[in-house]
Amino acid sequence: MDLIDKLKKDFSEIYNSEPDVIIRSPGRAEIIGNHTDYNNGYALAAAITDATFAALKKRNDGKIRVISKTFKLEQPIEFSLTQIAKDDSNNWSNYVRGIVKILLNQNFSLTGADIFLTSSVPISGGLSSSAALEVAIAKGMLELHGYEIDPLKLAELCQKAENEFVGSPCGLLDQASVVFAKENNLVFLDFLPDNSKPLSQIKNIPFKINDANLSLVVIVDKNVKRELGESGYPERRKMCEESIPFWKESLGREIKSLRDITSSEFNTYKESLKTKNPKMCMRVEHIVFENERVLNSIKALNSEDYTTFGKLLTESGKSALELYELDEETPELTFIFRTGKTLPGVRGIRNMGGGFSALALALVDTNQMSQFKENLASAYSKQFAGTLNFIPFQAAEGASLC
Ligand code: GLA
Repeated sequence: MDLIDKLKKDFSEIYNSEPDVIIRSPGRAEIIGNHTDYNNGYALAAAITDATFAALKKRNDGKIRVISKTFKLEQPIEFSLTQIAKDDSNNWSNYVRGIVKILLNQNFSLTGADIFLTSSVPISGGLSSSAALEVAIAKGMLELHGYEIDPLKLAELCQKAENEFVGSPCGLLDQASVVFAKENNLVFLDFLPDNSKPLSQIKNIPFKINDANLSLVVIVDKNVKRELGESGYPERRKMCEESIPFWKESLGREIKSLRDITSSEFNTYKESLKTKNPKMCMRVEHIVFENERVLNSIKALNSEDYTTFGKLLTESGKSALELYELDEETPELTFIFRTGKTLPGVRGIRNMGGGFSALALALVDTNQMSQFKENLASAYSKQFAGTLNFIPFQAAEGASLC
């Protein structure tokens, strides 16, 4: 039985009827461009093959019922469209509640739905299972109620639900990647706002590493997730924003975000920022050079220079760990990065996403991949209790109707 038939079967066992709409919504890989989104910078991302599937059937009584196979719920969670409150006992359901609430606030007229969810996106942070879920629900609810929506608006509403309802101050990288990713391509995102749009450029970059006998692999220990991420992310975001007055004053011109600082300007004022606030200086350095690395990665990919591309990945990883300190209290991540980069066949390696989880992406010679996995897994198991999973990466299509 294929996946969609199985989904329909599960749906009808729970709700005694067939779904009207099925949405596939993938996780995302942050290829390079770390914490650049909320600094109006650049990123290169892609969708992964692991995805969340949402099957939905319309109701007309103003109720939402939702059951998630991933969270092994026996009974659907139920809420009314007229009373949507957070439920901290089922945290994942807040993404569903938040999306429905935001859609209603935007005056989409919704009448209710029965929803069944299943997902293969690891929940441990780093592959954006939350954006996959948000986009699945938003796209599904809109499709179910006969609405067409601009894809950028869709991504923005999902981010809004996460910012305002779930309470996480994330940027737009995850939702935009899930919406705009194209099979066999990376998606370049320029987060400089353009009038009322949050992005000024969205461009596909063909991704042909397999032709060069190279492969990307996602490395994850699913059991490592530090609560610190909850405060670590907003603190870092705030520090970037708080550095803006320093730059305005030093450069004597209008600076809206770290996007407006060049690396040579950073180098000129590095010592004075360091004296003022050493942590702030580290955070800014990461962002300013990360933006450059994204642009240089595109040049390298366009000329099929994968050696340079790999080096940029590793520089990005080093900077994220040493300057943005995304491995704080996550020795597993430090270990994967430091050990991984020394292994034969590795062209580049870096962490992905917000941080504070044991998750990385490695560019490896295809013929050395199995040896690489074996070497890293065995070194890891000598140091830590958990086990590493290796997820082969193929750039997949963004969210779609099945
Ligand atoms: C998380 C956030 C994104 C982005 C990344 C880091 O995934 O949700 O908005 O900031 O971290 O690049």
